[in-house]
Amino acid sequence: MAPAPSDTETAPTGEELARAGLRLAVDGPVARVTIDRPERRNAMTGRMWAALARIGRTLPDGVRVVVLAGEGDIFSAGIDLGMFSPEGIGGERSIVAEIAAGTVDPEGVDAYIAGLQEGFLWLRRPDLVTVAAVRGHAIGAGFQLALSCDIRILADDASLCMKEPALGLVPDLTGTKPLVDIVGVHRATEICLTARRVGAREARELGLAEAVVSAGELPGAVDDLVAALLATDPDAAAATKALLQQAPGNTLQQQVAAERRAQAARLTALAGARAADPS
Ligand code: CAA
Repeated sequence: MAPAPSDTETAPTGEELARAGLRLAVDGPVARVTIDRPERRNAMTGRMWAALARIGRTLPDGVRVVVLAGEGDIFSAGIDLGMFSPEGIGGERSIVAEIAAGTVDPEGVDAYIAGLQEGFLWLRRPDLVTVAAVRGHAIGAGFQLALSCDIRILADDASLCMKEPALGLVPDLTGTKPLVDIVGVHRATEICLTARRVGAREARELGLAEAVVSAGELPGAVDDLVAALLATDPDAAAATKALLQQAPGNTLQQQVAAERRAQAARLTALAGARAADPS
């Protein structure tokens, strides 16, 4: 279940976001989130994922589209490898050190990872359409972040890699389900267990990219997509996304029943709007 927005929490300040390696620009219905640690190839940290989750919980009501990108010519080099070192990253919890010291139990580890996953889960919210604009590498957690989005636009220099198994880990940042949903379990197994790089053209063929453009054309392609998304009725868009999201888990009978329920709600809303404004 995608986390719900918060009524009480305040949005992170620019300074807090900068400390987490992020930038956020909200312009009416569009929020642009930029991973901004180019000196670390936009590697991501626990603090960054906590800030991402907070962005999700505190987005202004009118935001309908969220665009995620990396600063410079790379989307993200994945988890900051410093998080696996015994000393961890300054100011952040080191789960590796805690496990080694025996100071955290299995429930604690589970809760820790669940907290990290919050940074990714909100991107599925039906009231938002989320777009990953990917230049260069999207490795590990970076690939999983792109997979968390509804739509991926890749530059032709993009390269996707599920590196975790090569590091002795599993992909645990919510990426395995969308990967399997898109490419199927067999191709997903091959991609993950070889940890190979999937280039932009192959990503397009596999359905991992909705479009591939040159790096120079990426900002314009994203802007065109955002404009097209905003031209759709917001309530119909949210209801349709919710309907599409449940389709893979539903039988045909369940899905057509869900279509009827969603359409009845839409018809009721449209009839109400017409009655209020007959012109
Ligand atoms: N964490 C921390 N620092 C990183 C980093 C990472 N993931 N990736 C790059 N950096 C740092 C480098 O250490 C280097 O720092 P210095 O300048 O201090 O030496 C700097 O960024 C530039 O890196 P490179 O010189 O390697 O840059 P490049 O352009 O030649 O290569 C790259 C880019 C292909 C992304 C390469 O840096 C790379 O392979 N990085 C590691 C990728 C990786 O293994 N990520 C982890 C995946 S697993 C995961 O995300 C999830 C999980 O485990 C649960």
